[in-house]
Amino acid sequence: MPRSFVLLLPLAILAGLPFAQGGIESPVDGPEYTAGGQLKFPANYREWVFLTSGLGMTYGAPGKQPNDDPNFDNVFVNRSAYRAFLRTGHWPDKTVFVLEIRASQSKGSINRGGHFQTGTVAKEVHVRDDQRFPGKWGFFGFEHEEGAAKQIPLGASCYSCHEQHGAVDTTFVQFYPTLLKLAKEKGTYSER
Ligand code: HEC
Repeated sequence: MPRSFVLLLPLAILAGLPFAQGGIESPVDGPEYTAGGQLKFPANYREWVFLTSGLGMTYGAPGKQPNDDPNFDNVFVNRSAYRAFLRTGHWPDKTVFVLEIRASQSKGSINRGGHFQTGTVAKEVHVRDDQRFPGKWGFFGFEHEEGAAKQIPLGASCYSCHEQHGAVDTTFVQFYPTLLKLAKEKGTYSER
């Protein structure tokens, strides 16, 4: 064995440790639950991969007055799931999304036009956990970042809208500009 290899080998093993321990089954950034089965809010989601900011998006019937100060919704996904998506065009088991809804404001400091983001209004989470949820995916709503939440029941509109209109695996990849092209190339995208 060359000397440099002998020196580097322990380093390589150390670097691989988090993966060896977590394995593919349970990545280190996957969902975590309380003893009672509630999802813990993923407190470090702001270190995850940013997918998009929707501005003032509404999905109901048209005709409502446009909002002067529309909400932003910022979408984040855990890094291990993002990497798997880049390889396959599908979201793997243990994918966690956070939709962070923030209020906006146009008057402040030097701003003369447009809107900037302010406080959070709500946070919603979408998790793939094949053994836990009958339809593989579960939805959760959070008011406080530090809390835990019960799964939103299966009959809720979250499930039907995402199943009917989400372009890839019940998620809205049609609105995530960097992933849209990739999903089309991988053949996992459906027009919805
Ligand atoms: C009428 C359709 C509709 C309903 C109902 C709905 N959503 Fe969504 N959801 C969307 C759209 C559209 C997006 C993409 C938002 C964007 O691009 O900023 C989205 C994105 C999300 C995301 C980001 C990850 C993903 O799946 O793409 C989460 C998390 C989420 N919704 C949670 C919820 C929860 C929780 C509920 C129920 C309380 C819900 N949604 C109900 C349409 C819907």
